[in-house]
Amino acid sequence: MAPPGRPGGPHLTVTVVDHPLAATLLTALRDRDTPPPLFRLLTKRLALALVLEATRSAPTAVCTVETPLAPAAGRALVAVPVAVPILRAGLGMLEAVTELLPDVAVGYIGLERDHATFQPAAYYSKLPPLTGAWVLLLDPMLATGGSAAAACDALTARQPGRITLLSVVAAPEGIRHLASRHPAVEVVTAAIDDGLDARAYIVPGLGDFGDRLFGT
Ligand code: PRP
Ligand code: URA
Repeated sequence: MAPPGRPGGPHLTVTVVDHPLAATLLTALRDRDTPPPLFRLLTKRLALALVLEATRSAPTAVCTVETPLAPAAGRALVAVPVAVPILRAGLGMLEAVTELLPDVAVGYIGLERDHATFQPAAYYSKLPPLTGAWVLLLDPMLATGGSAAAACDALTARQPGRITLLSVVAAPEGIRHLASRHPAVEVVTAAIDDGLDARAYIVPGLGDFGDRLFGT
């Protein structure tokens, strides 16, 4: 997908994870009757699939290990990405990253959307050094795109080498907004939905992710 972006400049890339298990996990997340304990478990499982897809292009170096029988050629990650969940809802995706990348450094950005203006307000930031790093930005909902763009503002000020946003559901409006503000960002999502309603909720979406995750 190549929306706005500068001519000749980078274009936001969007990858939709196309896998039957991811689709069944997302379907259960969408179900209004899924209670918070199951919602948390499903979020983690789907996030595992998103992390695997997002790191498909992770650079590796050739190495060798000794099996019980003989030396075997293998691969090792050249550098471990930095994970940055956007509070609160991004926390539901963090354990998937720390399980697959145990050496990951984790930063946090706290953002809350204003219910009337839909603009994100920042209330917390704790980031490790990011110069040249690959950041996996975790936020399950890309709705207007305001929160993701604000988070990318904070990240790019620290000059990371690359930013990949992992989302569960994205709206076309959010993709367009992020493309206009941060065209070099890559997005990996489980679905692109129809659009936003009058309250800027994704339709059909799955409702308020943070509320469903934390039972609020
Ligand atoms: C939700 C969600 C995203 C944001 C997406 O967070 O987790 O961060 O909305 O909306 P946008 O694309 O229109 O900015 P919310 O502000 O509800 O906070 P929470 O995670 O604490 O529930
Ligand atoms: N935030 C959510 O949690 N859900 C939406 O549909 C939009 C923003």
